[in-house]
Amino acid sequence: MKKIIVVGSNGLLGQTLINSINKLDYKIFALARGCNRNQNNSNFTYYDVDITDKKSLLNIIDVIKPDYIINAAAVTNVDYCETHQQECDAVNVEAVDTLIEASKKHNIHLVHISTDFVFDGLKGNYKETDATNPLNYYGLSKLKSEQLFEKTSISYTILRTILVFGYVPELKQQNILLWLLDKMQKKVPLTMVNDQLRTPTYVEDLAKACLSAIKTQAKGIYNISGSDLLDMYQLSNLVAKTFNYDEKSISAIPTSQLNQPAIRPKITGFDISKSKKDLNFSPLSFTDALEEIKSKISQHNVDNFC
Ligand SMILES: NC(=O)c1ccc[n+]([C@@H]2O[C@H](COP(=O)([O-])OP(=O)(O)OC[C@H]3O[C@@H](n4cnc5c(N)ncnc54)[C@H](OP(=O)(O)O)[C@@H]3O)[C@@H](O)[C@H]2O)c1
Repeated sequence: MKKIIVVGSNGLLGQTLINSINKLDYKIFALARGCNRNQNNSNFTYYDVDITDKKSLLNIIDVIKPDYIINAAAVTNVDYCETHQQECDAVNVEAVDTLIEASKKHNIHLVHISTDFVFDGLKGNYKETDATNPLNYYGLSKLKSEQLFEKTSISYTILRTILVFGYVPELKQQNILLWLLDKMQKKVPLTMVNDQLRTPTYVEDLAKACLSAIKTQAKGIYNISGSDLLDMYQLSNLVAKTFNYDEKSISAIPTSQLNQPAIRPKITGFDISKSKKDLNFSPLSFTDALEEIKSKISQHNVDNFC
């Protein structure tokens, strides 16, 4: 049976992947730091590792000798990256270099995740081949990670994605949806920017794209996002409507009224035609994804967060 490692298995994509991979298809290994937060699933072997510890990471991969690695680990907080650039590089760039080294040694197909923040947001509807120009350090670190692959001979797929949202019960980091639901539940008035546009990505669609990249051995860069282009104000209104919260408590503001350490690109969004063709990628609409998440949340009791 082929072996697969999910790196960053405690995050939103990592946990979703672990829950999506069929144990009859692959022997599953999960790498993350600290305790395993995905304790409702026993289909995998868990390793506690900080991926910036190069020696330990290489040792574990040497022992497992996987056929595939999916790297779902990253420092994803954009403002934190701006003020902690060394830490951001250690995870988002140097650890990726370690994974490339191991992939070369063991002939592994490596799937890596990048971001729309490699673009400056002046154009929108980006194709894989459009010129990059990151505006913030997070975007730059991800671009640096992409550039590492240009110098290698390994088999790899880079999936660029946008504003990933979804639900798993035991998460340390909030995503946009869980952040909004938390505020809405507490009846906190919200101010949301109406001049930043994105095509948000449902994490289940992203997980399917990762597995499709492995099955097809698709090489190079692919755009993975939803098809609905929304500003943050429109997005939060759709969340309020689906989850029956008061839309009137949300007001629209321009980005100029926010004082964030990292500059955000204005309009991103992807042209996903290449992924539709090569990866059979077929994302849910934003509202259908919200309905699916609503039903998942209603079925779950959080009981064992670590
Ligand atoms: N979220 C978005 O909107 C978005 C947008 C574009 C691209 N992406 C990319 O999509 C991928 C998946 O992101 P996500 O949304 O699943 O993010 P996430 O929930 O923040 O997950 C990232 C995981 O990486 C882990 N990690 C960070 N540093 C580590 C280290 N030194 N050793 C081991 N694990 C470490 C984190 O561990 P802890 O839980 O212990 O902190 C976390 O579980 C990332 O490559 C991200 O850059 C995300």
